[in-house]
Amino acid sequence: MSRKIKRRDFMRTGTVAGLTLAAAGKQTVGFPTIMTQSPIKPVVVASANGNRFKNGGNVTAVQKAFTMMTSGSNVLDALIAGVNIVELDPLDDSVGYGGLPNADGVVQLDSSVMHGPKKRAGAVGALEGVRTPSLVAQAVMENTDHHLIVGKGAQVFARNMGFKIEDDLNTDNSRKKWLEWKRRTDPDHYLNPAKRAAAGHRVALEMLAQGILREENLHGTINCDGINAKGEICGVTTTSGLAWKIPGRLGDSPILGAGLYVDGAIGAAGSTGRGEANLYNLCSFVIVEEMRRGAHPKDAGMEVLNRIKSNTIEKRLLNSRGLPNFGISFYIINAKGEYAGVTMYEGGSFAMCNENGPQTLKSEPLLQGKPSD
Ligand code: GLY
Repeated sequence: MSRKIKRRDFMRTGTVAGLTLAAAGKQTVGFPTIMTQSPIKPVVVASANGNRFKNGGNVTAVQKAFTMMTSGSNVLDALIAGVNIVELDPLDDSVGYGGLPNADGVVQLDSSVMHGPKKRAGAVGALEGVRTPSLVAQAVMENTDHHLIVGKGAQVFARNMGFKIEDDLNTDNSRKKWLEWKRRTDPDHYLNPAKRAAAGHRVALEMLAQGILREENLHGTINCDGINAKGEICGVTTTSGLAWKIPGRLGDSPILGAGLYVDGAIGAAGSTGRGEANLYNLCSFVIVEEMRRGAHPKDAGMEVLNRIKSNTIEKRLLNSRGLPNFGISFYIINAKGEYAGVTMYEGGSFAMCNENGPQTLKSEPLLQGKPSD
């Protein structure tokens, strides 16, 4: 057997491996066993919701993505199929269908995708009426010369691509929370932008303190990145963005270099949390550049968290300790299949799936305590 054939055989994945084990009378657990001599161990990492929601099915986003990826699917197709589970699950009110709406009660969704081997990207911003913005971002990548389409134009594009357009992506849950926010906010707030921002922030913090919201609701998002045994790296980020944002506000998620960045030769990084902090520092791009210079994913992540901390000087964004009063997290893999989840404050977690199955792991924090301390 030639060396080439041997290598291809070793790179076969679960289905074949499972059949072989089954034929040998060994028990398989229905999860792909990876038979690979590639030095790269396939892995998928994601924000923690990537291993929490199943949309009534049996698998989480990272499980789905890993299984598809190691069964031969295109890495990006696999990652998107994973995040589709979260986009479609009404229980995650930070992403897709049932995501918390903007200040006018309208769900506007952002997403970006990057394909390392193809060196292509696509994104949509402030898209209304489509439950799976990640698929529309992929359609931008596949069918246009552009990287970003927003607003009404994004919806027209989606309709033209055959996506179903719905009048309203709110669920009872997202509408109820929006109504509560509206009820608590100064009814005249739109007349005074300065007051409005302050009132909106105060009410959001109140709702956090009262347990109506979690921090991840406010800036919730899913980012999912993967590498297969061939070293092909892709990523996707999708979100309903900041809860109760000014209509049309885009965060970091649809912006290449911020919510997501992939360099097929180096690695991938993506983010959840306060998009403005990420946009100002273009952190995903910086992380990938740090890794290009040889930094480990964790150290690259710590570098951008430190940068965000140094660049956060406005009083309204600082807590009583003079530290950022918001959360932000990054999910990172490099071309060797090493990975990390890093976060501004302790207590965060991230999802990971490899040949041992899906896990939720502790993210490495930059700071102790809570954003509100
Ligand atoms: N990171 C999501 C957003 O700020 O929109």
